[in-house]
Amino acid sequence: MPEFYIGLMSGTSVDGIDASLVDFSDGKVRLVDFFYQPFTADLKAAIEHASKPDTLIALQNYGTLDAQLGQQFADAANALLTKAKIPASSITAIGSHGQTIYHSPDNKFPFSLQIGDPNLIAEKTGITTVADFRRRDMAANGQGAPLVPAFHQAVFSHPDEDRCVVNIGGIANITVLPANQSAATTGFDTGPGNTLMDQWIHKHQGVNYDSNGIWAKTGQINDKLVALLKHDTYFHTAPPKSTGKEYFSIPWLEQKASLSEYYPEDIQASLCHLTATTICDAIKKYAPATERTLICGGGIHNDFLLQLIKQNLQHPVASTETQGIHPDHVEAMAFAWLAWQRINNLPGNLKEVTGASRPVILGGIYS
Ligand SMILES: Nc1ncnc2c1ncn2[C@@H]1O[C@H](COP(=O)(O)OP(=O)(O)OP(=O)(O)O)[C@@H](O)[C@H]1O
Ligand SMILES: [Mg+2]
Repeated sequence: MPEFYIGLMSGTSVDGIDASLVDFSDGKVRLVDFFYQPFTADLKAAIEHASKPDTLIALQNYGTLDAQLGQQFADAANALLTKAKIPASSITAIGSHGQTIYHSPDNKFPFSLQIGDPNLIAEKTGITTVADFRRRDMAANGQGAPLVPAFHQAVFSHPDEDRCVVNIGGIANITVLPANQSAATTGFDTGPGNTLMDQWIHKHQGVNYDSNGIWAKTGQINDKLVALLKHDTYFHTAPPKSTGKEYFSIPWLEQKASLSEYYPEDIQASLCHLTATTICDAIKKYAPATERTLICGGGIHNDFLLQLIKQNLQHPVASTETQGIHPDHVEAMAFAWLAWQRINNLPGNLKEVTGASRPVILGGIYS
């Protein structure tokens, strides 16, 4: 008997919704189908406007966006089911991450806000929906992030090899998977993944990302600029830690350096180098025994970034595809897995990762 769940993920890059259909029967994790629904330019702009640190979005606009996104998530789940030719009645639950509007774990009153009304998802799909995964971890004094390491551990750990998994979305995060199965899995956000590169190329060329790193490759990495950026305290703070694009943004970049002194393409090359080296520095410092690094997330498609990461590490670097999961599918599968954990009343956080006081069951159920 199959045990079907759907995972819905829309990350910090605000590119669109990843929808995965996963079968958890026989203790396995098997991707059955996948559907990607890009956001329209208008919706992407509305989300980005609402996510700016200094934007005061009217409550009415906020509520509208929450409902609009709920409908979009429901549409993505329904489109996935049509594509897979599987009826809604055979799905146990949907795990919906939602769209992060603001992540603020180090506030006096910490919070992390994901929107996309789960009531609408449940109603429009007829499927029990699990959502709001981050806040219970925060209530237990955790960062509420990253949450994917528990899933990385479930599918990528290996008893004979010390591994790291690096997810390069808007923000980059690593998961450290010791071969010794009794040692704790750790992990944290290393800092920017694609977000600074995406924002910089958008400002200069009006496109959403630097396809295959082509623009970055035309520039020169500027060591002085990279050093200025790497001075930031986030990179030197010990984990547990998490961050978002409300922090790593163009205003952040402008604060760090006088940008008019550099060619825009040199800044792009330097931002690519910043992402690569902050990931590699984190691996060298917190996972020095790593024998293999597995990469997932959209950043893997940036050849220049991948080349810089490979140059910086002494061990093999490979796509998660080599372990049977396509790099674009991992995060959405993680939220199907987190829904499975919730429905089975199992914790979804790793306290060594988020810094929570204890393992907690994550997410609210909208049946
Ligand atoms: N061909 C490509 N060349 C360069 N960069 C790419 C390419 N394809 C995707 N990307 C990058 O990947 C990003 C999308 O990746 P992904 O969906 O993993 O991020 P995300 O939505 O922020 O996810 P999350 O926050 O959950 O990790 C794009 O914004 C872009 O920067
Ligand atoms: Mg995405």
